[in-house]
Amino acid sequence: MEKVKIGVIGCGTIGSVHTNAYAKVENAEVVALCDILPDRLAEKAKLHNVAKTYTDYNQLLADPEIEAVSVCVPNNMHAPIAIAALNAGKHVMLEKPMTLNPDLARDIIAARDASGKQLQMGMVWRQKDEAELVKEAIEAGRLGEIYQIRVKLIRRRGIPGLGGWFTTKACSGGGGLIDIAVHFLDLVMWASNNWNPTRVSAKVYSKFGSPIKDYHYVSMWAGPPKLDGTFDVDDYAAGFVRFGKKLTLSFEVAWACNAEDESYVEFLGDKGGVTCGSNTGKTIFRTEVDNHIADVEVRYDNSGDGFVKELTKFANAVQGKGEVPATGEQGLVAMRLLDAIYRSSEADCEVEV
Ligand SMILES: NC(=O)c1ccc[n+]([C@@H]2O[C@H](COP(=O)([O-])OP(=O)(O)OC[C@H]3O[C@@H](n4cnc5c(N)ncnc54)[C@H](O)[C@@H]3O)[C@@H](O)[C@H]2O)c1
Repeated sequence: MEKVKIGVIGCGTIGSVHTNAYAKVENAEVVALCDILPDRLAEKAKLHNVAKTYTDYNQLLADPEIEAVSVCVPNNMHAPIAIAALNAGKHVMLEKPMTLNPDLARDIIAARDASGKQLQMGMVWRQKDEAELVKEAIEAGRLGEIYQIRVKLIRRRGIPGLGGWFTTKACSGGGGLIDIAVHFLDLVMWASNNWNPTRVSAKVYSKFGSPIKDYHYVSMWAGPPKLDGTFDVDDYAAGFVRFGKKLTLSFEVAWACNAEDESYVEFLGDKGGVTCGSNTGKTIFRTEVDNHIADVEVRYDNSGDGFVKELTKFANAVQGKGEVPATGEQGLVAMRLLDAIYRSSEADCEVEV
């Protein structure tokens, strides 16, 4: 079988997740890695048994063997690297969030259109078995008309890499909102097939990340904290989004707050409701059966790996065997929504998306 030759750019946490997942994709093969940190690059090349390494992404992009790249670098480097890759004739798998703002997202889409290559967003939550079954139920009309969606994504103390790029606005574009809410906002728009957020009223806060030395936590993704680093982003956000006149969404998302860890997405329809993405691990439909109020907990095989699924679809799209499952246009809608949330907070009023 022909294998798509892949270069993975960025060998941190998610670069390794992609490289491991590609090893399970039958029509893809990672042939090169790139990272600006030579020690990390050498360590990951050995770990993943990849022969070619580059410390400059431009050199990787000049390698004619490479047909496609996974872009797994900090958010501020998404647009420059994705655009350079498309201009170099490579297909691009771009991690979330798409970029820092809607204008840069439009630049990426323009580069894709000029290149004729594939561009896929790294929206892995959609690839989960649970997300697929919820979308199928919505499409089959089991919820009736959905009029409200509730999103909750609360971490008691879950700021990643405090003081590093995640918490430095110039590198990340924002805090918990752009980092984790983007997953659930994309998920609900995809599952309900509503891509027209129109107005937003929201507020973001920054209460726990600074001063860095006063942050108390149990464990830290991408840690330990950099005590002389920067924290100039949000760690809590709440808001209300209108999708035209018939659908609304309320959300609450926190990297850190004084509440229990909790996550779910809940769709409320006039025939039924469903909770998914829950920290309880349960997928529950709330409905009526034979004129009685009934909760239906769905049991299903959820052993599928979302990353393997998304990268299989990417390799297939590169080979002309399917469409990318998450498009640049959808990434742009998410960027416009995130931008409107930040603008609403700044202006202290409802704004247009
Ligand atoms: N889909 C998901 O669930 C998920 C999970 C975590 C992170 N992410 C996204 O993946 C991206 C990376 O996150 P991470 O947690 O792996 O970060 P990380 O800090 O662990 O890794 C980033 C790597 O990129 C390298 N890098 C920085 N600039 C570079 C450049 N110009 N050229 C080459 N390499 C460069 C860094 O040295 C580092 O090794 C972010 O955009 C993040 O939002 C997605």
